[in-house]
Amino acid sequence: MLFPDYRGRRVRASEGLRRMVRETRLTTDNLIYPLFAVSGKNVAEPIDALPGVYHYSVDNMVKASKEAFDAGIPAVIVFGIPDKKDPLGTQAYAKNGIVQKAVSEIKNKVPELVVITDVCLCQYTDHGHCGVVEKGVIDNDSSLDLLARTALSHVKAGADMVAPSDMMDGRVAEIRGLLDEEGFYETPIMSYAAKYCSSFYGPFREAAHSAPKFGDRRTYQMDPANIREAIREVTMDVEEGADIIMVKPALPYLDVISQVANEIDLPIAAYNVSGEYSMIKAAAKMGWLDGTKAMMEALTSIRRAGADMILTYFAMEAAEVLNKG
Ligand code: PBG
Repeated sequence: MLFPDYRGRRVRASEGLRRMVRETRLTTDNLIYPLFAVSGKNVAEPIDALPGVYHYSVDNMVKASKEAFDAGIPAVIVFGIPDKKDPLGTQAYAKNGIVQKAVSEIKNKVPELVVITDVCLCQYTDHGHCGVVEKGVIDNDSSLDLLARTALSHVKAGADMVAPSDMMDGRVAEIRGLLDEEGFYETPIMSYAAKYCSSFYGPFREAAHSAPKFGDRRTYQMDPANIREAIREVTMDVEEGADIIMVKPALPYLDVISQVANEIDLPIAAYNVSGEYSMIKAAAKMGWLDGTKAMMEALTSIRRAGADMILTYFAMEAAEVLNKG
């Protein structure tokens, strides 16, 4: 059908019609809210590069979690900033580590909120890499046991789900094996399956004090130029036992989200990362675009690409917009 028989504008004429033909829905159910835990009491320290995001001590993190839950957000993902770092990242799997404490308090006070933990070593190692460094090289196999121990300690503290973000080969299987062995066979793994070596993590690394002290992450995170490799990475994680597959970042990788969603029958998550958030915030602050509209458009486009859920620093703000209707 061609013009004038077909007129696309007919179904765009009113808000009612637009609502009826809308193909993609964004609801608070789709949102996962990232939180950064630090030690201390009554701390809510703003993070410069992530306006509106804070370093919270556990007490304030519980408050923020409650607010998220009350706003209809089903889940948070907890990151920890430890007081001390060492070569083996021992605070990542310490029984009384910052994430372990935060998780157990949140589960105590907001039991129905799904608490996910980021499983990685980079915030905890003094060299800032996501695995163990041996002779200047990030060693895959000796990192696996530490990552699995980290995941187990999170689950023992009460985490509902663990999310390995390190990009070591074989870590999903290692984590699944240890969790099963310890009786946690019902605990799901959300794997950062296709995680790219991206400059869009810049603000996060400031927030998490996790920039690598030497080199970069190109030997383990993926080359932004590749998409077939993403399918391979995702397939491996599915075979190793992942329950939810993540693509990260989101906006510069919508094609990857789309292809993964078409090929994989597991739930798909996408991480709307720190740089994607801060870009919109900065432009809005300059008056160069409408921050709220840009936020909703960006989140909707990630859903349209095929993501079932979105990890985003916009979670609370988006929930506010959505709850207003
Ligand atoms: C830890 C981790 C990172 C992010 C999530 N988990 C940083 C990195 O890989 O350097 C980035 C999140 C963001 O930028 O919002 N490995």
